Amino acid sequence: MSLDDEIDNDEIEECCAMADREYAKEIERARRDLRALISSKNCAPIMLRLAWHDAGTYDAKTKSGGPNGSIRNETEYKHAANKGLKIAIDLCEEVKAKHPRISYADLYQLAGVVAVEVTGGPTIEFVPGRKDSMASPEEGRLPDASQGASHLRNVFNRMGLSDQDIVALSGGHTLGQAHRERSNFEGPWTRDPLKFDNSYFVELLKGDSKGLLKLPTDKVLVEDPEFRRFVIMYAEDEEAFFRDYAVSHKRLSELGFTRP
Ligand code: HEM
Repeated sequence: MSLDDEIDNDEIEECCAMADREYAKEIERARRDLRALISSKNCAPIMLRLAWHDAGTYDAKTKSGGPNGSIRNETEYKHAANKGLKIAIDLCEEVKAKHPRISYADLYQLAGVVAVEVTGGPTIEFVPGRKDSMASPEEGRLPDASQGASHLRNVFNRMGLSDQDIVALSGGHTLGQAHRERSNFEGPWTRDPLKFDNSYFVELLKGDSKGLLKLPTDKVLVEDPEFRRFVIMYAEDEEAFFRDYAVSHKRLSELGFTRP
């Protein structure tokens, strides 16, 4: 290698580092705009669901799907499991318009992280650099709420996620509610669906309560002995839930993502 080559490589590296720093600053500006948007519109639940549904299509074997922004593709947001999520996609457009350099893939995952944060949940480390794709996976990769433990394991294991990830991430249902016109289910999981806490697990252990929802896939977390031990741990210890949730959420948000 000649001296000239070395200088060129150094210059390229320096240039890339500057581009990375600029991008990281833009992410911080978008984070502030998302905080304001999510607080003013009370839309944390649907933003978290958007981030999860973009990421949750990942297939570790074929390395397809995952947090790549493809949910903005009409064929994908029209999948039955994504009913209602166009609302969140459109809300994110307001932020995208102000920060056009940020990939949709990063923007949706950042929205998920901010949704948890502004509702009182744990801080989740966010690493930017996801690439966008318009290649939507076939319909049917997201979990079906009317099924049982083996279905949940099949879907999450396909992503490369474990039993503990399944239980911790199901704690996302501490936020929001089901809407009959979207999913055929109705109602919130907790008494305060705009507060991120461990009440989802506390309610699960209490059993049926008037006015609160438990999907078949929620109930199975109490019935299956492997899942149940995590439910008990998180119901008793909110800090343990926050710690594990932050790890599992980061894992979900980075499926198939190799850091730049
Ligand atoms: C809502 C199913 C896991 C976050 C819903 C709804 C269903 C559902 C049926 C109602 C949608 C509607 O009618 O608006 C499932 C199933 C899961 C799962 C079967 C498998 C374990 C997750 C995970 C997260 C999450 C891992 C996030 C980490 C949410 C949120 C809402 C929601 C925040 C409320 C949305 C709103 O209020 O608009 N989920 N979910 N879910 N899900 Fe899940």
